[in-house]
Amino acid sequence: MNDLKQVLINWYKENKRELPWRESSDPYIIWISEIILQQTRVAQGYDYFVRFVTRFPNVETLSRATEDEVLKYWQGLGYYSRARNLHAAAKSISMMAEFPKTYAEVLSLKGVGEYTAAAICSFAYNLPYAVVDGNVYRVLSRWMGIDTPIDSSEGKKLFAALATELLDKKRPAIYNQAIMDFGALQCTPASPNCLSCPLSDSCVALQKGAVNLYPVKGHSVKVTNRYFYYIYVRMGAYTFLNRRTENDIWKNLFELPLIETKIAISDEELYSNPALKNMFMEGESFEIHCVSRNVKHVLSHRIIYANFYEVILPENSHSFSSYLKIKKEEMEDYAVSKLVHNFFEKYYL
Ligand code: ADE
Repeated sequence: MNDLKQVLINWYKENKRELPWRESSDPYIIWISEIILQQTRVAQGYDYFVRFVTRFPNVETLSRATEDEVLKYWQGLGYYSRARNLHAAAKSISMMAEFPKTYAEVLSLKGVGEYTAAAICSFAYNLPYAVVDGNVYRVLSRWMGIDTPIDSSEGKKLFAALATELLDKKRPAIYNQAIMDFGALQCTPASPNCLSCPLSDSCVALQKGAVNLYPVKGHSVKVTNRYFYYIYVRMGAYTFLNRRTENDIWKNLFELPLIETKIAISDEELYSNPALKNMFMEGESFEIHCVSRNVKHVLSHRIIYANFYEVILPENSHSFSSYLKIKKEEMEDYAVSKLVHNFFEKYYL
């Protein structure tokens, strides 16, 4: 059997990507990069990372910023709890003497799970903790031909144990980077480059002619449909926003006044919906029409079907009094979801 450690490290030396966070052993910089890269591809996360660490170069600056500003820097990246957790964790770290130095301390930071703790501890401190991410699942399941579903609790335990056993304990930082880049560039999800793979002689999945069947997945999570009806109010120079405060998608981001339903409704049903009527002063007449219909916005466990309506109100109207009244050109100061941002880009810029 090939020596996995040496093969991966040799491959990495030849093929590694030059990435800005790899130039640093500052745990803060590594932490930020790993949180950005948790659910985001390198190509998309790169510019966000550069902007983020330019504005917030250390724990102090991040901890002193407002959450709204941090969310603004995150706008468009999705999974906004990452930004809220980063900010909360920076506040707690700023009260400590230094950045946490042990695996247990790093793991206890808000928003840091086992993968991120292993990444920070190995990259910043060269501690022997194996990273287990999607790349690692793919490389190990193929190379060893493991049929246990990676999303089962048995699979999670098995892969964590294997990754730890296979880790190069003397060179954890470079080994962890190597296996992740190998998964991202060589042993890719679709059309992996098996013809020129240094592990082809010992890869069980390749020998079985079944590379594309790995990793094995069990039942995927159910996806729910949601129906959003957004109201863009034009009241002279003003419009209205709402801050999402519930424990739900886009918590603490801003959006247009919203009516959500469990099933799709017609314009007539919307116009007679009590929640819509409640937004207006009693008896006030208003003009409403649909601007953009059936915009499909796919998130990890939800599909949102959004419709956008425009409402014109006289400048002296007292409707929408429970919403935040802003000047239309101030819109850019507020962090909004990509769905709302795209609407403005398309129709109002
Ligand atoms: N994905 C997650 N962490 C990464 C890293 N440190 N380098 C490249 N891709 C990554």
